[in-house]
Amino acid sequence: MTKPLWIKNASQLVTLASEQQGPRSKEAMSNLGIIENGSIWIENGLIEAVATTEEIKQRYENRLHEAEIFDANHLLVTPGLVDPHTHVVYGGSREREFEMRLEGATYMEIMNAGGGIHATARMTREASEMELFEQTSRRLNSFLQHGVTTIEGKSGYGMDLETELKQLRVMKKLQKEHQIDLVPTFMGAHAVPPEYRGKEEQFVDLLIEEMLPIIAKEKLAEFNDVFCEKGVYTPEQSERILEAGKKYGLIPKIHADEIEPYRGAELAAKVGAISAEHLLKASDHGIEMMAKAGVIACLLPATALYLREEAAKGRKMIDAGVPVAISTDCNPGSSPTTSMPLVMNLACITMRLTPAEALTAATYNAACAINRQDVAGSLEKGKQADIVVWNVKDYRELQYLFGVNHVKSVWKKGVKVVS
Ligand code: NIG
Ligand code: FE
Repeated sequence: MTKPLWIKNASQLVTLASEQQGPRSKEAMSNLGIIENGSIWIENGLIEAVATTEEIKQRYENRLHEAEIFDANHLLVTPGLVDPHTHVVYGGSREREFEMRLEGATYMEIMNAGGGIHATARMTREASEMELFEQTSRRLNSFLQHGVTTIEGKSGYGMDLETELKQLRVMKKLQKEHQIDLVPTFMGAHAVPPEYRGKEEQFVDLLIEEMLPIIAKEKLAEFNDVFCEKGVYTPEQSERILEAGKKYGLIPKIHADEIEPYRGAELAAKVGAISAEHLLKASDHGIEMMAKAGVIACLLPATALYLREEAAKGRKMIDAGVPVAISTDCNPGSSPTTSMPLVMNLACITMRLTPAEALTAATYNAACAINRQDVAGSLEKGKQADIVVWNVKDYRELQYLFGVNHVKSVWKKGVKVVS
């Protein structure tokens, strides 16, 4: 038995607590459940009580002496941030491509010439499991430093069975050994491997018949994602892959309408995807269908900025009733960042989310997008004590004072991981 932990005197304790279960949309995205001068009582890594400091003091009067106490000293306290979309396991880096894009090349041109995802796939194939583990571990440390305590991670830099399995096994090992929670997604359909150009259907068959069964048998992934994009996988191929994954219990996600409009949002609603990602070019009809089907829009404003594209229509999606989550998309090509605070800033500046909506999108709704809403994303009794103390007093300052890491301290399951 560890000592209880008492975090007291938060200027604002942003709990995100609500009676409503499941992804939040419209006005519900603005209800942060703020407790002024708040406190949290933690036992064995789990939240036991959330209330004002006065109430907690009275309720635990007889036990205060045994607790470890952290005085937040009138700073802001929130749940640990959740990043529901990353490609965090990869070998090498692509700074030359960054330069090439500034010189005028487009993301798709680089990819079609064998760079982009293909370049990272080569470097990931070459890296040993140990190297991948170590590189990724450093990135996960950086996520923690930015207040992120749970992330999703995708395979997809292998596109052959061996390397896809290598990436997923690295994630499994990191989930055991690293403090952060890492939720695995299979994304064998991230690009068309060069040897299957013009024979895409054969690769889709291979993925369905050979890769999915092994991944399901070894329980290496919870979600199944595809890059549904002109020149990559068509909506029909994407549907086949996602429907096949469903038979193995893998929940669909889709990289949809990122570079060109391609009926990705519509497909997400049709296959019952938990989330559709990117959506820069999603059609109005697609947005409507997502709202009806309750598909979460996982928006990646850092990627849009980095590709110098116009951001997704986040404001419009919220107004249309789509629950919105946000994410870094951390990857070596289109968004090499681990900063969810930056993503929250950008969600406000480039997509006109309000500060409250951006915080909901980076916590509770993000947890919903990876099925972790029962353990993460809000500060409520029984949930993991994943908590951030920030060097600001008001939650709006997080979005307003941009480009700065305001993290002061982070706890993961009640253990201090950043101080
Ligand atoms: O989400 N769009 C496809 N996949 C990633 C980029 C991966 C890469 O460029 O390495 C994305 O933007
Ligand atoms: Fe992505």
